[in-house]
Amino acid sequence: MMEFRESIVLVTLLLFTVVAAVTATATGSATASLPAHHEDESHLHRRSFPKGFIFGAASSAYQYEGGAKEGSKGPSIWDNFTHAHPEKIADGSNGDVAVDQYHRYKIYVAGGCTPNEGDGHRYAYRFSISWPRILPNGSLNGGINKEGIDYYNNLINELLSQGLQPFVTLFHWDTPQGLDKQYGSFLSPRIVKDYQDYVEVCFREFGDRVKHWITFNEPHVFTDYGYASGIFAPGRCSSWEIGRCKNGDSDKEPYIVGHHILLAHAAAVDLYRNKFQKTQNGKIGMTLDCN
Ligand SMILES: *[C@@H]1O[C@H](CO)[C@@H](O)[C@H](O)[C@H]1NC(C)=O
Ligand SMILES: *[C@@H]1O[C@H](CO)[C@@H](O)[C@H](O)[C@H]1NC(C)=O
Repeated sequence: MMEFRESIVLVTLLLFTVVAAVTATATGSATASLPAHHEDESHLHRRSFPKGFIFGAASSAYQYEGGAKEGSKGPSIWDNFTHAHPEKIADGSNGDVAVDQYHRYKIYVAGGCTPNEGDGHRYAYRFSISWPRILPNGSLNGGINKEGIDYYNNLINELLSQGLQPFVTLFHWDTPQGLDKQYGSFLSPRIVKDYQDYVEVCFREFGDRVKHWITFNEPHVFTDYGYASGIFAPGRCSSWEIGRCKNGDSDKEPYIVGHHILLAHAAAVDLYRNKFQKTQNGKIGMTLDCN
């Protein structure tokens, strides 16, 4: 099983939070105003949450799907990165198989978060679509992969049949390798049109059932780790940075990439609002992390 450095970062952050909380308690600040039951989690039940609250679990394509070279999927920058730089992965492994959601989705969906019928809450599973599984070389003119469309249709239908709403992330860091090679993907404004073409396929094929769309997952992590520290794909950074990359510019590239992500997000939202929202009735937004 592969282990992203992100988990280390997350654990570190979590520790930091715990330390901060302990410090706050020790100095007598911040805790006094909290009602007692907030400090004892045994009082926390699903019924503590308001009706309509959505419970769920979340995943990303590269960490879950596997089937990296199956079903006519094209390579993503994560496929290339893990194979070219096993030394940058904690245990040197990769996501070729991961937890094999590509083949085992029925077992996982059935065994996952089973909704309690009629408890007034809603249940969801958030997953991301792998762009190169839909458009193997990243661009529409490289063809739409029918096998990829079938896989996500099956997953979505399975979720709905179990009472789970699909929450779909359109981009969770796995840029098609083809676009990276052709024009530097997010370093070029050309990414905006290719991204818009890709999301349009997704809205058209899945939007009759998907009512919650996320354009980008945590752009901060993608830009910072991918283009500043260089510890994530595509592994670009200045030579003096942690990743000691051969190519990149940590002073400039993260900002260029961030700018193009914002433009691509805007293009996707504009397309959804103008062409799909009226008939499909969904919502669209972005997942932001701020750490
Ligand atoms: C990326 O991986 C593909 C498939 O393994 C390979 O053909 C290609 O040469 C790699 N590209 C780069 C830039 O490493
Ligand atoms: C994808 O394939 C099409 C058709 O062969 C080609 O015109 C296009 O340049 C390719 N795009 C990339 C990014 O390789």
